[in-house]
Amino acid sequence: MMPIEPPNLKAQLFHRKPVSMLLEDAAFHEGGLKRALGALELTALGIGAIIGAGIFVLTGVAAARLAGPAVTLSFVVSGFACAMAALCYAEFAAMIPVAGSAYSYSYATMGELVGWIIGWDLILEYAVGAAAVAVGWSGYLRVILTGMGINLPVELTHAPGSAPGAIVNLPALLIVLVISAILVVGISESARLNSIIVAIKLTAVGVVILVGAFFVRPANWSPFDPFGWHGIMKGAAVIFFAYIGFDAVSTAAEEVVEPQRNLPLGIIASLLVCTVLYILVAGVVTGMTPYTTIDINAPLASAFVNQGLSFVSAIISLGAVAGLTSVLLVLLLGQSRIFFAISRDGLLPPAFSRIHPRFRTPYIPTIITGIAVGLTAAFLPIQEIAELTNIGTLFAFVLVCLGVWILRHTDPTRKRPFATPLVPWVPILGVLFCGYLMASLPAVTWMRFFAWLAIGLSIYFSYGRWHSRVSAAANGSTPAAESSAGRAPG
Ligand code: ALA
Repeated sequence: MMPIEPPNLKAQLFHRKPVSMLLEDAAFHEGGLKRALGALELTALGIGAIIGAGIFVLTGVAAARLAGPAVTLSFVVSGFACAMAALCYAEFAAMIPVAGSAYSYSYATMGELVGWIIGWDLILEYAVGAAAVAVGWSGYLRVILTGMGINLPVELTHAPGSAPGAIVNLPALLIVLVISAILVVGISESARLNSIIVAIKLTAVGVVILVGAFFVRPANWSPFDPFGWHGIMKGAAVIFFAYIGFDAVSTAAEEVVEPQRNLPLGIIASLLVCTVLYILVAGVVTGMTPYTTIDINAPLASAFVNQGLSFVSAIISLGAVAGLTSVLLVLLLGQSRIFFAISRDGLLPPAFSRIHPRFRTPYIPTIITGIAVGLTAAFLPIQEIAELTNIGTLFAFVLVCLGVWILRHTDPTRKRPFATPLVPWVPILGVLFCGYLMASLPAVTWMRFFAWLAIGLSIYFSYGRWHSRVSAAANGSTPAAESSAGRAPG
């Protein structure tokens, strides 16, 4: 079918998708996604996505090189920024419980162009984030296997360019493909696996706090902030990665029972639990080891090896591998749901919103995401671009905070099952804190970020603009993409 004739450019770029249309697209209908998740599963999904490489790895760099023992304050600052964003996400998620998350909220409040930009930007959070986590997973697996006397060849465990002679990071590729296969098979199965993993990693984090507390020497906390306020903020911008994931809860909106109640609960509860745990872990680890000697690769596990507690360290390494597995699961889940929502609006080809007739999962975007993330992790030196995940996520948070404020003005009477408290102060603080963390990231990250957005814009102007369902509806015509969007084939 021929692409549609869009309305005039300016009208289209700022055309907002009506909230009623968003809700209609996501309404319960025969052949839609399967609703199987309650508040507990959602909270577990949030924790599943949050606790991972951030706390198990990045705490080390942030403490040793950026903030010293005051990394605890870095966690407080980042946690505060995320709390503001989470309260805004909660309002949107309850009011517009659709799979597109920040993409859909921005489309509804700031129009098609901003919506697309955020949708494209979220690929940095979910897909690039997942590729980075898969590489971290492969690294931890190697450490554990080496501990058991099994040495995997360097050629098959590193992407070209990341080690001499490296050919492919096979473990990273395989874990992404296995998790993608589970996600295709079903949301209930995926949630069950996630809950088991979350139990394992919470145990590991609990062990760090409870056992570690006995080995804290308060003298190690002094000097507390050797790098000053500047160091604390730089640390906060890096360990922000540790908090990424609570927002992923909102991408499962169309698979949730009673989303108006359960989504805000899942988002806020998962962030709250993790924030408390993180602050305690940071306090304990910097109390166990002088910050100058904290291991930057495996700070938690090494802190216990240094005390002669290799057994505890083994539990922590196991928790880390489990932790990274569930982060991967939820990030891949989130990415496929966002592609699903964008495609349903016509801005990506219709295959991206095809639902499996039996499993009722968006299987095509899940498979495409799995292959793309797997190959990226297997063949590209991902460390180079991993910090794009932070800037991409922070950008989405800023727009979600702004969106809550905007919608309070443009649509004040709409029912808000959860209302962000203290508007406009909470959104403003969210924008300021997240904006400040963005500004603390290096210039090279900003340049790569703009390059990424430029690629996204060229895709929008060559494809999305011509296939937008919302524009077509405004225009009174039918886009080519609409016929199969968001429906099971056959
Ligand atoms: N928050 C997730 C992690 O730390 C992305 O791995």
